[in-house]
Amino acid sequence: MLLRIGLLLQVASGRAVASRILRELGPRLSGGASILVPSSPGWDQALVRAASPRIHPGFVASVEPATEQDVQEIIKYSNHIGVPFLAVTGAHGYTTMLNRVQGGIQVNMRRMNHTKMNADGVTATVGGGVMQHEIVRSLFEHGKLAVTGLCECVSTIGPLLGGGHSIVQGRHGFAADNLASARLVLANGSAVTVSAESNPDLFWAIRGAGHNFGIVTSFKLNVHDVGDTWTMLTFIFAQDKLESFFSTWNQLEDEHGDVGRPVLLGFLGRNPAVDTSHPVITLQIYYEGENGMVDEYASAFFALGPVSNTTVGDIKYKDLYVTGGIDLNSPICRKNENIIGYPDSFDRWDVDAMRAGFDILSELTADEKFATSVWLLESYGQEGVEAVPAAENAVAPEERSLHILAAPALWWAGDDEQDRERAELYGKRMQDAVRSGISVLPHSYVNYAIGREELPEVYGRDAARLAKLRRIKEAYDPRNRFGFYAPIR
Ligand SMILES: Cc1cc2nc3c(=O)[nH]c(=O)nc-3n(C[C@H](O)[C@H](O)[C@H](O)COP(=O)(O)OP(=O)(O)OC[C@H]3O[C@@H](n4cnc5c(N)ncnc54)[C@H](O)[C@@H]3O)c2cc1C
Ligand SMILES: *[C@@H]1O[C@H](CO)[C@@H](O)[C@H](O)[C@H]1NC(C)=O
Ligand SMILES: *[C@@H]1O[C@H](CO)[C@@H](O)[C@H](O)[C@H]1NC(C)=O
Ligand SMILES: *[C@@H]1O[C@H](CO)[C@@H](O)[C@H](O)[C@H]1NC(C)=O
Repeated sequence: MLLRIGLLLQVASGRAVASRILRELGPRLSGGASILVPSSPGWDQALVRAASPRIHPGFVASVEPATEQDVQEIIKYSNHIGVPFLAVTGAHGYTTMLNRVQGGIQVNMRRMNHTKMNADGVTATVGGGVMQHEIVRSLFEHGKLAVTGLCECVSTIGPLLGGGHSIVQGRHGFAADNLASARLVLANGSAVTVSAESNPDLFWAIRGAGHNFGIVTSFKLNVHDVGDTWTMLTFIFAQDKLESFFSTWNQLEDEHGDVGRPVLLGFLGRNPAVDTSHPVITLQIYYEGENGMVDEYASAFFALGPVSNTTVGDIKYKDLYVTGGIDLNSPICRKNENIIGYPDSFDRWDVDAMRAGFDILSELTADEKFATSVWLLESYGQEGVEAVPAAENAVAPEERSLHILAAPALWWAGDDEQDRERAELYGKRMQDAVRSGISVLPHSYVNYAIGREELPEVYGRDAARLAKLRRIKEAYDPRNRFGFYAPIR
């Protein structure tokens, strides 16, 4: 009974806050902005996100700013009435910390979606609400590309603020390494330019720990020539090849080193057309133009006896993501379904640990509910990443030096508590299996972290760097208003 009264009071006060926000914030915003409240048409649609319902930030209003000044007004107003706010662009963030936003204001950045090639020919000016698929296509028309995430459904800025792994990072560095400047609205509503010349401490910090300091309304990004067309090879192996698969991968790296290494993206996951009782191994090898090393890679993997291997050539850069099956309509981009990840970065596969982990994945995915869960295996090339000195920005040095990113990504639908506990148990067991085999201290990529990690595991173990980050956080966001995504605390 008490609980029900509590709930009713909450609903009633939610309504009161919503109408107050419409009344008070509405007039402060530009003509292009809009405010949705729970009674507005389109409310449910505005809140759809990935990784839900496990991830369920709670909002009393969703505001779509059209200008930087709108963003300033939203933050000042949120501070004034004492509610949290959260910038949302691609809605793919999956850290559990996001659930700490309750009774908040969603700042939906999608109206700020312009991409403009600059007259200098080497930079583009990009809105804070631009998606990966938008920037790729806009720049391609100019024969250019930016360093972005892979999946078309994530934003441009979301991955960048945490580093940003990319299919072109081996050549151009992380997405964050390509930021020239940004316009940032701080926790107190002030708008500032952040670059090497203006607020250099913030410029250092937002490139790697960037979800902590402000809302990016627009940013200037270095762009590069699109270059040649791409080729994608795909190999599928049955699980009995797991040991030889990972030892071949290690051996190829031992023999050839990093320079010119093609991009390797794989996953362990169910494919009943190939094997009805176990997950299988899928490997995609991507390269641009001619690649002197790819024949060696292809023949080494071919020698293992794949169930199938295919080659698609002459792929335009803008079409690469559709060919790779990571486009807007791909399963990995789906929303409204739980996701949880258990990432680790390291520099060499431990074959026994991967077998132990595989067996756990196999057991979990035998359950129909978890059958679409996968173990992502990623190696994008480090040459461009290591060319940037670690001191340049807040991307963890571990992120630069540990070139393999492996993450069980568990998917399931629905709101069942026991299912969630099961996913967490199995995810943790897989991560423990990996960690028993690697020779480095645990490191989790900021943007794959789920909120349980200690700070050094995510932002790097160098105490001086962490102290610097904390100092900058204290200076710009002492009340931790940006405290819901890999917060520095
Ligand atoms: C399917 C999938 C594919 C992925 N692929 C890659 C990849 O290829 N490379 C990679 O590095 N990572 C990748 N990631 C991880 C990705 O970097 C994070 O999930 C990232 O948070 C997604 O950003 P978003 O805008 O799409 O999500 P959102 O949930 O909208 O944003 C995540 C967080 O970013 C902040 N934010 C959003 N917009 C702004 C803004 N304008 N200004 C300031 N802060 C803002 C907010 O704190 C928000 O909570 C992937 C994740 C998924 C689920
Ligand atoms: C992109 O921005 C324009 C102008 O603000 C807006 O009308 C449009 O709806 C935006 N696109 C999306 C998908 O939100
Ligand atoms: C399979 O791989 C082998 C060895 O690399 C290659 O010769 C063959 O053309 C490939 N087949 C397809 C269909 O790509
Ligand atoms: C907002 O915060 C910044 C950074 O701490 C500070 O420089 C600025 O003076 C503050 N603005 C106001 C209006 O308080």
